[in-house]
Amino acid sequence: MKALEGVRILDMTHVQSGPTCTQLLAWFGADVIKVERPGVGDATRGQLQDIPDVDSLYFTMLNHNKRSVTLNTKADKGKEIFTKLIEECDVMVENFAPGALDRMGFSWERIQEINPRMIYASVKGFGPGPYADCKVYENVAQCAGGSASTTGMLGEVPMVTGAQIGDSGTGLNLAFGIVTALFHRTHSGKGQRVECAMQDGVLNLCRVKLRDQQRLAHGPLDEYSQAGSGVPFGDAVPRAGNDSGGGQPGRILKCKGWETDPDSYTYFITQAAVWKNVCDVIGKPEWKEDPDYATPKARLQRLDEVFDAIEVWTMTKGKFEVMEICNPLNIPVGPILSMKEIAEDMSLRETGTIVEVDHPERGKYLTVGNPVKLSDSPSEVVRSPLLGEHTDEILKEVVGFSDEEIKIAKDEGAV
Ligand code: COA
Repeated sequence: MKALEGVRILDMTHVQSGPTCTQLLAWFGADVIKVERPGVGDATRGQLQDIPDVDSLYFTMLNHNKRSVTLNTKADKGKEIFTKLIEECDVMVENFAPGALDRMGFSWERIQEINPRMIYASVKGFGPGPYADCKVYENVAQCAGGSASTTGMLGEVPMVTGAQIGDSGTGLNLAFGIVTALFHRTHSGKGQRVECAMQDGVLNLCRVKLRDQQRLAHGPLDEYSQAGSGVPFGDAVPRAGNDSGGGQPGRILKCKGWETDPDSYTYFITQAAVWKNVCDVIGKPEWKEDPDYATPKARLQRLDEVFDAIEVWTMTKGKFEVMEICNPLNIPVGPILSMKEIAEDMSLRETGTIVEVDHPERGKYLTVGNPVKLSDSPSEVVRSPLLGEHTDEILKEVVGFSDEEIKIAKDEGAV
C-alpha cells in the first residue's frame, strides 16, 4: 500500500507551484483529480511546446500520476458536480489568482459547509498585506523574497536562479502543510486551511541572508570575499558571487578544458579542518605553518591569492578528477554538472531520480522522479493525463452520475 493511498485530492492547480505539490502527493499514492476548463485545460499544456499539438514537457513533467476531469465550475451544472467533488474529496488544492474561487462561489466558509473535513490548501504570491492581491510568477517571488538582491556578482545586476524556488519550492511547502493537516485531522476530525505564500517560501530559503543582514549591524561580514578585497559594505546584505553561505570560504574555479567547455568548473571549499590537506594537494606545503595562511582569520585577507593558487592546480585537472583526488582527503568539492551530463547519468536513473516515461502522443521523454524515497512506499511515475481523459470515469465513480446524466452534463457544456 502506498503512503497516501485512500486520500483523494481535488486538484484545481495550474502552471507550476500547485501542480508540483499535487504531483508529489500523487507519487505517494493519493488519488489526484485534476480539474481543468473544458477545451482549454492547464495553460502549460500549450506552453513551450516542442512537438506541435502535443502536451508540452512543461505540463507532462508537473502532472504525472493524476487523473484529468474537465469541468466548467462557473456553469450551474458544473457547480453541482464541483459541490459533489468537494463532498467526496479530502483535500482541495488551488493556486488561482487571489479571490478566483470566491468569485466562482466557493469561499472557504462555503467549502466547510459542504465538507467540514476538507483541507483547503492554497498558494498565493504574497501573504496578507499590501501585495495580497497581486498575481505572481516565479521570478517575481525570487525578487520579492530576497533571493535576487543577494544573488549575482558584486557590483552587477541582481540575478535570479535557475532553480524554481518560488514555484516548486512553495509547492513543496504546501505538500508538507497538507500532510500535516491530514495528520491533525486524525485527532480533530476537522479540516483546515493551509496557505503558502511564494514570497514567504523564497525568504525561508534565504534565511542565511537575513542572518547576515543582522550581523551587518555589528561590523563587516568578514567571510565575504568582498571584505578581503577591501570593498566597503553598505547597509544591506550584498551580492556575494559564489561565496558559500556557511562561512567556509568557497569559490567556483576553472578546470582543465574550461576554454572550450562552459561547464568545466568545480566548486572548491577551503574548509578550515582540512586546510593542511588543501596545502598538500595544491603544492603549497609551506602555507600549513605560515602565520599569514595557517589560520582561517589570516586567510580571509588573502582569499583572492589563495583561490588563485588553488585554481592553478584545478586547471591542470578535469572536474571529476578534482573530485576523485579531493574526496578521500575530505576536501569538499563539487563538479559543475551540465543538464546534458545529468540527463545521461545512469546512476540517477537507477535511483529513480530521473525517469523515462512513455506518453501516447509524444513517445518517450525524461522527467524528474520523486526526490523523497520511502522504504515502504516506493514511487512509480505514471504519465500525465490527456485533457479530460478521465472525465467519464470520475463522473461515474466519484460523482455517482449515470450515463444519461453524463450526457446531459456534456450537452450543457459543463464538462
Ligand atoms: N472553470 C471555470 N473557470 C475557471 C476554471 C474552470 N475549471 N479554472 C479556472 N477558471 C477561471 C478562474 O476562476 C479565473 O476566473 P476569474 O478571473 O473570472 O476569477 C480565471 O480562470 C483565471 O484564473 P487566474 O488564476 O487568474 O489565471 P491567470 O492565468 O490570469 O493567472 C497566475 C495566473 C499564476 C499569475 C495566478 O493564478 C496567480 O497569481 N496564482 C497564485 C500564485 C501562483 O501560484 N503563481 C505561480 C504560478 S506557477
